[in-house]
Formats: sequence, C-alpha cells, structure tokens
Amino acid sequence: MSLTFEPLHRHFAAAVRGFDMREPLTPHEVRMFEDAIDRFAVLVFPSQQVDDTQQLAFTAHFGPPDIGRKKAVKSADSRLPAEMIDLSNLDENGYVIDPHHRRVLSLLGTRLWHTDSSYQRPAAKFSMLRAVTVPPWGGETEFADCRAAYDTLPSHLRSEVEDNFAEHWVHHSRSTLGWEPTAEEIHGAMDPVRWPLVRVHAGSGRKTLYIGAHARRVIGMPLPAGRILLRDLQEHATQPEFVYRHAWQPGDLVLWDNRAVMHRGCRYDLAHVRDMRRTTVLDPASVHERDCGDAA
Ligand SMILES: [Fe+2]
Repeated sequence: MSLTFEPLHRHFAAAVRGFDMREPLTPHEVRMFEDAIDRFAVLVFPSQQVDDTQQLAFTAHFGPPDIGRKKAVKSADSRLPAEMIDLSNLDENGYVIDPHHRRVLSLLGTRLWHTDSSYQRPAAKFSMLRAVTVPPWGGETEFADCRAAYDTLPSHLRSEVEDNFAEHWVHHSRSTLGWEPTAEEIHGAMDPVRWPLVRVHAGSGRKTLYIGAHARRVIGMPLPAGRILLRDLQEHATQPEFVYRHAWQPGDLVLWDNRAVMHRGCRYDLAHVRDMRRTTVLDPASVHERDCGDAA
C-alpha cells in the first residue's frame, strides 16, 4: 500500500494512510512528509502503536529536539525519556495525580490556544503527540489554521498586525489562569522573545498569524490595547471554519507545524487517565527571523 494523504478539513489537516511508523524512514519519505506538512500543517497517523523509542526515532528525522518548558520548570519527569514531554495527568509511577496538584493545574495551560515554544528563539517547528491511554470522554486536541485565518483577516485588522511584534514569555499563559511561577521558576525562565504577528511560513511562502497564549503584549502598544488586539486575532483565527478537532484513539500520533497552526487540549475528567506523550523539534531557521530592534 502506497503512502497517501487524505484531507480531513476544507483548509488543512490530512490523515496518513499506507505508512508504518515502526519501519525505518527513507529520505524520500521524509521529503514527502515535509511537503505534506507544508500543505496540510497537521498530519494524523491513525493507530500507529509505536513505543517511546520509535516515536523519538521518527521525530529525529525532522530536526533537533526541543524540550520546551522543561528548561524552565523542574519536575519529576522520570516516567519518560528526557527528550519526551509528559502531557499526562500521571505521576512518575504512573498513578493519576490529584487534580489540585500544582503540576495538573499547570497542565491546564495546554487548554489555551497556543503554539509550542513560541516563548523561545529558536521556536518549535513540528510537534508530535501520541495517545497511549485516552479518557472515557473529552481530551480531544483542536487545531486552528493560522494561514487561512490570515488570508481572511478583515482589512482593518490586517493593517494593524502587518508590522507589529508580540512579546512571548514562558510563564505568561499559565499566569493568565492564576497559576503563578515560583521565584525559582521565574529565575530559571528564559528571557522573553519577540516575534512578528505575521510570519511567512518558510515551506509554503504563505503568510500566517503567529499569536497564542504565550504572547503577553504587543510591542509599542499600551498593554490593554495590545492584549485586546491579540484576543481579537485569536477569536478570528479560532472560528469553527478554521478548526479541526482530533478525537484520539490509543496509538494515534498527530504531527503539527507550530509555524502554521495553534492548538489546544479539550476538557476531560481529570480523575481518569489521559496518557499523552509529546516530542518536538526546533526550527533553527527561526533565529534569523527579523526582530523589532530595541523598541520597548
Ligand atoms: Fe502544546
């Protein structure tokens, strides 16, 4: 059976058929996937049933690893390999964590629309999330196509975003929920970084909105004005017509391009196990992206 991509949505997202992730990947297949990612931005690999080692091996074809917030927040993460991010509600021994525990409350930050690692330079390129155990209801992941959102921006919004930059900070998204970093976590935080609100997607040449929950202000705008602009952009980008929702089955792996989409997790009963394991690669080219100088 040959490798094919079956579109799942009018604007983006495709299911990958005829592929076994447990087999070694050829350079030709890597190029096919990169071309498909440039087009679809989200690739769903249904019921692959790979293990951690196989997920890490697949991930390594696409760039150097990114461990995201693990650089700023220490946790007892020994359940998984060092280059894997644990998005489960399980402790290091595999037991469900008390929903009031700080780590689970931090996890609620993933329910906000965001792009992975936008708070660092280089930012993240692709993320790959695998479902090991899914809860009885909820826990889906939603994706919003920020290229289609840009294409359809009303002209008054387009003129406001075109040459503006947002500042992204590693602790901002969770702080907006009332989760406060400790003094040690603030001390260990990466410096905020700035990204254009509109970026050109390297693979497709399409313009895309680059926003999300890590963005805490718009450079050169009063704080409330910038935050309202960020909210208005997010509301536009996450209208149902731009959103694909993936309902997980154990063994599914979904790959997405953080340069082209935002995503968020959906509500589920925290008393039930949701074991999700993420790998992410950096976007080394993003360090060369334009910055906005020293404007405050
Ligand atoms: Fe994420």
